[in-house]
Amino acid sequence: MPDMPALIARTLRTFDPERAHRLAIAGLKTGLAGHHASDGYPSLRTSVFGLGFPNPIGLAAGFDKNAEVTAPLLRLGFGYVEIGTVTPLPQAGNPKPRLFRDDHAKAIVNRLGFNGQGIDAVEPRLRQRPRTGIVGVNIGRNKLSAEAEADYVTGIRRLGPCADYLTVNISSPNTPGLRGLQEPAAFESLLKACVAARTMHAPGKPLLVKLAPDLDNKALRAVVEIAVAQHADGLILGNTTISRPDGVPDRLSREMGGLSGRPLFDLATDRLRCAYRVAGGRIPLVGVGGISTGADAFAKIRAGASLVQAYSGMIFDGAGFAARLAKELDECVRDAGFTSVAAAVGTAG
Ligand SMILES: Cc1cc2nc3c(=O)[nH]c(=O)nc-3n(C[C@H](O)[C@H](O)[C@H](O)COP(=O)(O)O)c2cc1C
Repeated sequence: MPDMPALIARTLRTFDPERAHRLAIAGLKTGLAGHHASDGYPSLRTSVFGLGFPNPIGLAAGFDKNAEVTAPLLRLGFGYVEIGTVTPLPQAGNPKPRLFRDDHAKAIVNRLGFNGQGIDAVEPRLRQRPRTGIVGVNIGRNKLSAEAEADYVTGIRRLGPCADYLTVNISSPNTPGLRGLQEPAAFESLLKACVAARTMHAPGKPLLVKLAPDLDNKALRAVVEIAVAQHADGLILGNTTISRPDGVPDRLSREMGGLSGRPLFDLATDRLRCAYRVAGGRIPLVGVGGISTGADAFAKIRAGASLVQAYSGMIFDGAGFAARLAKELDECVRDAGFTSVAAAVGTAG
């Protein structure tokens, strides 16, 4: 029997990356990808910021930007799905081509620039979605908005009530000025406004912040301390990198934008480890960047991640990706002598 999910992924990779992405979303809507169980691993069940996850492997933001296929994605075996980034108004994003893939290096560069349908289109989909599985909502600002803070507050007010958790994305490299919101004064002011909006419009909903893997130790330390002081519920480390680590082919290195996939793994894991040392358990961390196996996920967990997310790995592996990762991670956890994934968090910090 051919491995159908892998075959479909291989076929999709023969298309231009944006076309392949549209086809994948269309295929998921038809139910073509089917059901890949991954909730049968007691070792992987975990509770983080008050939510119970069947397994700690989430789909990272950017695949389902407009909340079109949350239920089919959860059926692939992800423990949770993060939709978005959603901006208040619809926007087209940057000119094409803006998405580049290298199958051999398992790397992607994108400079999409928050292309998306905006809150009015996304909100009803979130409200009407089947109430099974955890769906986080990643929010951002419009490129031409004069008031970044107001855009995040609008996202929280409109989408917070129908999200299981919220992510404030201040780390995409493709919106001019966005990463400036990670600077201490701007970050403190933004986070205060976001926490207040959450408390008013979506009380009890965990509020996370997604950071860039390009922050150095000093900048990361400052951001973690502010996040703890202002009572954020979690930090995601992290987004794509503007650096070009070893292993990135020239063709991709030359393209402007954020790099993801395998070559991001070491940098992102190193930043996660640094954040964990600073946080010292005061705030849970989500490890993202370059995960393509259960062993990669386990390495993030041992470096300090309570949850992990992946995106690029699924593009190269296909619809069976999350279920395979869950199976491998369960083996890693038990082989290392842990009874639960939570017990392994930070053990190699
Ligand atoms: C095509 C593409 C689009 C993305 N769009 C978003 C986005 O809208 N918001 C966001 O927070 N991250 C976005 N990301 C970043 C991913 O969520 C993730 O942080 C990053 O890709 C690293 O994980 P990976 O190596 O497993 O892909 C995007 C990534 C890719 C490849």
